[in-house]
Amino acid sequence: MPPALRALLIQIAGVALVFLLARSGVLPALSALELACLQGLAAALVSIGLRSPRWWTAIHLGFMPLIVLAVGIKAPAWLWLTGFGALALVYWSSFRTQVPLFLSNRVTVHKLAAWLPADGALKLLDIGSGTGSLLIHLARLRPDWTLTGIETAPAPYALSRWLARKLPQLRLVRGDFWQHSLNGYDVVYAFLSPVPMGDLWRKAIREMQPGSWLVSNSFAVPGATPDHKVEVGDARGSILYCYRIPGRANRPSGTPRADSRAVGASPHPPEALLLPAVDR
Ligand SMILES: C[S@@+](CC[C@H](N)C(=O)[O-])C[C@H]1O[C@@H](n2cnc3c(N)ncnc32)[C@H](O)[C@@H]1O
Repeated sequence: MPPALRALLIQIAGVALVFLLARSGVLPALSALELACLQGLAAALVSIGLRSPRWWTAIHLGFMPLIVLAVGIKAPAWLWLTGFGALALVYWSSFRTQVPLFLSNRVTVHKLAAWLPADGALKLLDIGSGTGSLLIHLARLRPDWTLTGIETAPAPYALSRWLARKLPQLRLVRGDFWQHSLNGYDVVYAFLSPVPMGDLWRKAIREMQPGSWLVSNSFAVPGATPDHKVEVGDARGSILYCYRIPGRANRPSGTPRADSRAVGASPHPPEALLLPAVDR
């Protein structure tokens, strides 16, 4: 069930529980805020009972009380609409994709650039390029590389276009990366969330050339062993999980498989990128 629908049903369950308590006469006379707090508590308990991820407990606890408080402020309707519009432009389809906006930091960019081959042209695609935080810094470090970003949310995309206006080797497109072929790129970089990783791996092995690389910041592919891991060494303890696309004969079919390749020291050093994986 989509998380937004699940959250809505849990909130409705909280309302129903408070309604039943009130009908049964066990509740004293309560203010609207007190009733909302009780509803929040009921919804949070339902959420825990259904084993929702932990952060949902806080969201359910606070949702209705915050609505009651917000209504009490009596702010003009256009203010709420503006706030909603601004958030929608930034987060766009996050409620569906479960991939919010957060940005790769500079240390990650430097680590990635250092791991990739020091010379030679290279084509890199950032799927979900956000505000361009990775690509813009990478373009300055490696002006010889061809960099592409694809982003679905209008506000981060517009900002990235403006920030990259003086970087001709950087191509930014607005769109859905699931509709964009990964063929022809030496490296596909992803900084998404745990949710799409299985599907992304299947798309990568279907479309990418053998010997090219899928690099995922922070989120490993479930059931697949990375060929190499780059420890970024930032405050978050980020790890870049690097998967080399197998040759046609070795491709797993269906779900990603666990394989026996070593992790840590790379059996496929980045020089493998210079093998004739992709026409340049
Ligand atoms: C965590 S941010 C990463 C931003 C950037 N890659 C970076 O490293 O700084 C993920 C981005 O992916 C975008 N996104 C999520 N699903 C997408 C899709 N199907 N197509 C294009 N962009 C998507 C989100 O809007 C968000 O901006």
